[in-house]
Amino acid sequence: MTILWDPDPSAADKYRYAVGQDVVAMSSGPQVARAIEDNAAHTLVVVGPDVDLDAACELADAQRLDHPHVGVVLLRHRLEVAVLANALRSGIREVVQADDSPALAEAVRRSRALTAQLHGHQAGGTSREAKVVTVFSAKGGVGKTTLATNVAAYLAGMHSRTLLIDLDLMFGDVAISLQLLPSSSIRDLVAMSGHLDREGLASVVTTHEASGLHVLAAPDDPAEAERIPAALVAEILRVARAEYDYVVVDTPPSFTEHVLTAFDSSDLTLLIATLDIPAIKNLKVAINTLDTLGTAPEARCIVLNRSDAKVGLTADDVESALGASIAVSIPNSVSVPAATNRGVAIILSEPRSTVSLAMRHLADTEIRIRFGEQLRNGIKRNFGLLRSKR
Ligand SMILES: Nc1ncnc2c1ncn2[C@@H]1O[C@H](COP(=O)(O)OP(=O)(O)O)[C@@H](O)[C@H]1O
Ligand SMILES: [Mg+2]
Repeated sequence: MTILWDPDPSAADKYRYAVGQDVVAMSSGPQVARAIEDNAAHTLVVVGPDVDLDAACELADAQRLDHPHVGVVLLRHRLEVAVLANALRSGIREVVQADDSPALAEAVRRSRALTAQLHGHQAGGTSREAKVVTVFSAKGGVGKTTLATNVAAYLAGMHSRTLLIDLDLMFGDVAISLQLLPSSSIRDLVAMSGHLDREGLASVVTTHEASGLHVLAAPDDPAEAERIPAALVAEILRVARAEYDYVVVDTPPSFTEHVLTAFDSSDLTLLIATLDIPAIKNLKVAINTLDTLGTAPEARCIVLNRSDAKVGLTADDVESALGASIAVSIPNSVSVPAATNRGVAIILSEPRSTVSLAMRHLADTEIRIRFGEQLRNGIKRNFGLLRSKR
């Protein structure tokens, strides 16, 4: 995220073309320093041409030891040798003429690349970069919320810092499925949009005590849904990435703008199929939509829920209709609605049940191993019931 330090309130609009959409405007040096201190996602400061040179150098000088990954790019009305020398000595990465948009865009790109390299060199990897997993089906009642809550609770229970976001903004039932009584919801982040930081996000999540999972609940009132801008979803995911190991996103059964935004930021999409023709038709549409959005087929995974229902369709039929293979099948079980009604995650309350084993297998292979976790005991469970074709 980029900070634009400029006393002129219209500066953000002026430089947005070169700097990108992801920019917050600030008017004073101390405010910039505080923002960097508070949020590790701020990795670039563009200093406007009217900001005093000494103040800009002071900021750069202070950051280069404390926050070496933060780049400072200085804009000046005219480029002068004395200015350049001072600026570079203080640790400013580049000095660019204020009206040279292409040069500014290039400087921003180079600074971001350097920041990424510095992150890569950080020993021990203390900086987090959560993987975002979105659970989707264009049909309701197929098991999205069941899968999202259980997988997220499992990941949290395995000591990964995990956030579950309920993007079913009108009829979200993540909180009730986990027997949570959230005092805040995603609605409370609207006021922070444009300057959301980790404290802001932390102030609205609810903890699921049994697993340590953090939940960002949907609003209570369906009418609130339309007050939540889709851009806020991108901002939440960006902030959450720096704080968590995994972010799991539950969705409504439609391609809302919020869902499309989540797809855009996802490292993996779990698509749920069931053994009925409308669900398969809708899944095909979903796959085509993901293709149109340009998401990689490797970043999707098809999960067949209630795979053993005796309804005249088989898993093979689903695979040939979709032209894609099913990664994991989850059997039908009355324990699932029973657990939902008790407000517990079956994966925690009945970890050896067939449904739990299937969901654990999914979380282990398709999420934990996929994203580079070394599982302590390997995977030695008996998955006779399950199919894993990957
Ligand atoms: N494998 C399963 N076996 C039996 N019931 C299931 C299974 N998966 C989900 N259900 C039940 O189906 C209903 C709908 O599931 P839900 O996760 O809310 O779907 P969605 O979020 O897609 O609308 C719930 O009552 C849930 O308990
Ligand atoms: Mg749901």
